[in-house]
Amino acid sequence: MTKSRTRIIDLLKMQAGVTVQAKGWVRTKRGNKNIAFIALNDGSTIHNVQIVCDMSVFTEEQLRPVTTGACIRVKGELVPSVGTQQSVEIKASEIEVYGTADPAVYPLQKKGHSMEFLREIAHLRPRTNTFGCIFRIRHAMAYAIHKYFNDNGFVYLHTPIITASDCEGAGAMFQVTTLDLKNPPKEKDNSIDYSKDFFGRQTSLTVSGQLEGELGALALGEIYTFGPTFRAENSNTPRHLAEFWMIEPEMAFYDIVDNMDLAEDFIKYLVKYALENCAADIGFLNNMIDKDLINRLEGVCDTEFVRLTYTEGIEILTASGQDFEYPVSWGVDLQSEHERYLVEKHFKRPVILTDYPKEIKAFYMKENPDGKTVRAMDILFPKIGEIIGGSQREENLETLRRRIVEMNMSEESLDWYLDTRRFGTAPHSGFGLGFERLLLFITGMANIRDVIPFPRTPKSAEF
Ligand code: 4AD
Ligand code: MG
Repeated sequence: MTKSRTRIIDLLKMQAGVTVQAKGWVRTKRGNKNIAFIALNDGSTIHNVQIVCDMSVFTEEQLRPVTTGACIRVKGELVPSVGTQQSVEIKASEIEVYGTADPAVYPLQKKGHSMEFLREIAHLRPRTNTFGCIFRIRHAMAYAIHKYFNDNGFVYLHTPIITASDCEGAGAMFQVTTLDLKNPPKEKDNSIDYSKDFFGRQTSLTVSGQLEGELGALALGEIYTFGPTFRAENSNTPRHLAEFWMIEPEMAFYDIVDNMDLAEDFIKYLVKYALENCAADIGFLNNMIDKDLINRLEGVCDTEFVRLTYTEGIEILTASGQDFEYPVSWGVDLQSEHERYLVEKHFKRPVILTDYPKEIKAFYMKENPDGKTVRAMDILFPKIGEIIGGSQREENLETLRRRIVEMNMSEESLDWYLDTRRFGTAPHSGFGLGFERLLLFITGMANIRDVIPFPRTPKSAEF
């Protein structure tokens, strides 16, 4: 609780007649010889408070450093406002400038800026209206995620960031090492001797907390992880980050249908939470970024997601007559163009696709009796494509070991994981929701680099 100022979000709800002190950054200043108007924002809300300066109280000299971007303290009386959308404004009696922002060099002048330009000055973009909205929404969503799971009896399990196992088996991991890269210790066969490395073995940044999450679920019942995950894939797309946050619930005794029910309920809860709790910010984004945003968000809350198998999906795609960049046939991994065709053109609502070919999915997914497909489920969203990936897990020790061997993975290094199947194994399921993909959907932004404060992508890791 800061006592030295009133936040603008609270101040705008107060009744006129009291003396208040606000602190924030100047958005604009305009006026004439007799009167000056300052729009002040402190990040607590998209709305600015208007400061009215009677020029018989202030000198021009005093207000000269009050330019766009400057940080000021204002004291004054809260009075009814006539000219603005707000019901109150501050009639200033005192203004102190904490920090100036030279108009000749401060890059965020009043005019609109392209997202590309703002990405180049990502260290300053939280000061813009758009990014203020996005980061407030990001916070609200993180809170809503914890609230949802807490209210539903899930335990927040912290899984490691540094790991020795490759959950997705895609080999897209960032190595973590303290070895001297110029002169690493070598084995007799000239390979690197990782026993000399910090952990006495080769380690990487995690691609997913799932495997450790399964250990938690098979003891605590329902758990979830929510943390940063890392993928060293060279994907330069508007939907991929090298460092992204993932939410991964894992539930004992859930089959694939329970898993889908939970995922659908969870995502609808989050969208509703955003509509109810971030109305001002979403309203702004709806006006400025994407006029269909609120429609789309409300649409998701009200519709049942379509559920169909991968095989049925492929049939629809091949019958569509569409000229896809990547041709479709049974067995191929779906590209975003295919996912979006199903969601946006064919069904016109979110789709849950199940039972994918085992060859294109990870080793831990439960095999179907057909021997060809696994109990996977991906949730596909309009404008995003895949937003959630999950599955029922293979709980049978022998089947799982066979999959590990078939996929040329090391059984030995997964011995700890196999212990869950050796001792008291149980049917269980889980999924991963990409936090930034969720935020793309909720904010209407087009590029994933614009929903995370400090994006990491190939060839880019500033700050
Ligand atoms: O489908 P993925 O790779 O699944 C897993 O990692 C499982 N271990 C999850 C589980 O079952 N517990 O990733 C899950 C989700 C994707 O659906 C997508 O939303 C997001 O994570 N995601 C990414 N988001 C941003 N950038 C990337 N490079 C992403 N890769 C995956
Ligand atoms: Mg996936």
